[in-house]
Amino acid sequence: MRSGEPTGMQAKSPSRASTVSSVSTHVAVRVIRQEHAALAAMLRSIVMLLEQHRRKRTLPDFAVLRAMLFYVDEFPEKRHHRKETELLFPKLRARTPLSRELMDKLDNDHAWGERKIRNVEHALLAFEMLGEPRRDAFEEAMGRYVDFYLEHMAQEEREILPLAERVLSEDDWRDLDEAFATNRDPLTGHVADLEYSALFTRIVNLVPAPIGLGPAL
Ligand SMILES: [Fe+2]
Ligand SMILES: [Fe+2]
Repeated sequence: MRSGEPTGMQAKSPSRASTVSSVSTHVAVRVIRQEHAALAAMLRSIVMLLEQHRRKRTLPDFAVLRAMLFYVDEFPEKRHHRKETELLFPKLRARTPLSRELMDKLDNDHAWGERKIRNVEHALLAFEMLGEPRRDAFEEAMGRYVDFYLEHMAQEEREILPLAERVLSEDDWRDLDEAFATNRDPLTGHVADLEYSALFTRIVNLVPAPIGLGPAL
């Protein structure tokens, strides 16, 4: 887990993250960065919450942790990964031979991410059912997943988005921006992003302050 990065989740709702450091004029790039910011806030908040409970030697509110993990599982799988794998990466591959190996690796992360998070969810269930003896195993599984996912997003922001800004054509951007702006998703239908930002907000209100806005521990 990295340190020294922004903490807390109050200002990172997907619908309110427009101040995230992005100077891109392209809607698609802004949407990806905003969704990364929301996911990173959720992941870091889980780690902070676990650290707090470990220090106090208390068990966490498992319903809150389950909701946080559900968001991390559901949102990338249903919305975020598909926009990258189905829309952005194919356009990049068509324009440049650069970063192909990295895109293969990122696609592979998308494909295997679901299994990884399922393992973490199982470790959480074991912690909930069997208590203290399973705390370490869950924290380790969670930590590995957080590191994996933060690195995945960092690679996209460091290499893929700048490459897209350099090589995609105006036509490419028109297609991408339209798809990202309307959240058109031919594979999953039209689940409104509003549902996910509403879920994010509900979770923020449940997570204890100062990490979230719920009653402090
Ligand atoms: Fe991705
Ligand atoms: Fe991403």
